[in-house]
Amino acid sequence: MANEQMRDYWASIGAEGWVRHKHIFDSELAPFAAAVLENVRPGPRDRLLDIGCGTGTLLHLAAESGASGQGVDISPAMIEAATSLVPSATFVVADAQTDPLGGPFSAMISRFGVMFFEDPVAAFANIRRAVEADGRLAFVCWRGLDENPMFSLGTSVLLDRIDPRPPGPVDGAPGPLGFADPDRIRSVLTGSGWADVSVEPFDAMCDYGRDGTDGVENRLTMILGTSAGSMASANVRPQIGEEAWAALLDDVRAELRANLVDGRVQFNGATWLVTARNPG
Ligand SMILES: C[S@@+](CC[C@H](N)C(=O)[O-])C[C@H]1O[C@@H](n2cnc3c(N)ncnc32)[C@H](O)[C@@H]1O
Repeated sequence: MANEQMRDYWASIGAEGWVRHKHIFDSELAPFAAAVLENVRPGPRDRLLDIGCGTGTLLHLAAESGASGQGVDISPAMIEAATSLVPSATFVVADAQTDPLGGPFSAMISRFGVMFFEDPVAAFANIRRAVEADGRLAFVCWRGLDENPMFSLGTSVLLDRIDPRPPGPVDGAPGPLGFADPDRIRSVLTGSGWADVSVEPFDAMCDYGRDGTDGVENRLTMILGTSAGSMASANVRPQIGEEAWAALLDDVRAELRANLVDGRVQFNGATWLVTARNPG
C-alpha cells in the first residue's frame, strides 16, 4: 500500500495533536490559509477540493463566501473532526495519490497537505483528473529547514536526547519539507500535466502569542503534539523518569525564551505559494 508510513503517522500521533490543538495550529497558520484562498477567490459557484484537509479549516473559511467543496484526508480522525466543523462540505478518508477523488471541482486548494506523497507526480495527476478544464490549483508548502527555524528550535533539545538521534524533517523527503525545492515542485506539476505553474515565496509570521501570552506554552504544546515530542515522550521519558522529564521540558522552554521576537514566540514561516491551471 502506498504512503504507509505517513498513513500510520497521520492516523495516530499526527491527528491526535492536530485535532486536540486545532485552535493553536489555526491561529499560528492563519496567514497561510488566507494566502491560499486569496488566490482562488472562492464564490458561491465554486466547488473546491481541499487535499490533506486536516480538520477542515480551508473549507470552513471558504464556506463564508458561499463556496462548497470536498475535503480529502488520509487520516480518519482528521476527517471526523472536519465533518463536525463544516457540515456544509463533504469529507472523505482517501489517499490523494491513489484513490479516485470524484469531481469535477473548480479548484484544488491545500494548506500544507501535499508534501507527504511517495509519488508526487502520480498524486498530482490524480488530483488533476478531479479538477475541471481550466480549473485552478493553489497551495502552500514549507521552504527548507534553513529558512524555517520552527522545525528545529526547541525540538532539537528533545531530539538530542534520543539515541540514536532521529534526523527530524529532511528537505525533499515525504514529510513537511518534501517540497522545499521549487524546481522539484515545477517538475512535479508539469510532469503531472498542470500548466501555468507559478512558485513564489510567501513569508508570514507564525505567531504563538496571538492569545496575549508569550507563546512559550503554546509552542511547547505543539512540539509535544508532533513527531519530535511524541518520540521523546515515548523513548526518553520512561528512561529518565518524571522529574528529569519536567527538567528537560524546562530546557525546551528556556531555548524558546532565549529566542523570543518582540516578547513572544514567533517564527518567520517561509513557504512557497504555488498556483497552476489544469489545461484539460
Ligand atoms: C500538516 S497537516 C495539514 C492539515 C490542514 N491542511 C491544515 O492546514 O490544517 C497535513 C495533512 O495531510 C494529510 N495527508 C498526508 N498524506 C496524505 C495523502 N496521501 N492523502 C491525503 N491526505 C494526506 C494528513 O493526514 C494531514 O491531515
